[in-house]
Amino acid sequence: MAIRLVLCGLCTPNRPQVYDLALQLQREYRGELVVIEVDCMAACDESPAFMLEHDYYPAVSAPELRRLVEGRLPKPEVRSGSRASLKPEALGADREAGEQQRDS
Ligand code: FES
Repeated sequence: MAIRLVLCGLCTPNRPQVYDLALQLQREYRGELVVIEVDCMAACDESPAFMLEHDYYPAVSAPELRRLVEGRLPKPEVRSGSRASLKPEALGADREAGEQQRDS
């Protein structure tokens, strides 16, 4: 399931470095990160503020945003491992291993 990054679509674009990075991160981690824009997060005095899942982060800089997001995502080796396990040959190998266990 993708991680949700919620931002204010009214005031965050006024901080283009942070706003553009949020959209860039969504592209970089497609399927793993979803950016959701709301009209107001009631954090107008602490813009740009973000909700990462259920955690609130006020006055976030671009480097902080990347660190927060990447800290929540699975480690690269785990992500690539899970993708590799979805390859047909890997599924076939798993199936064969299961059949061998049943036969023994
Ligand atoms: S208008 Fe952006 S948090 Fe309120």
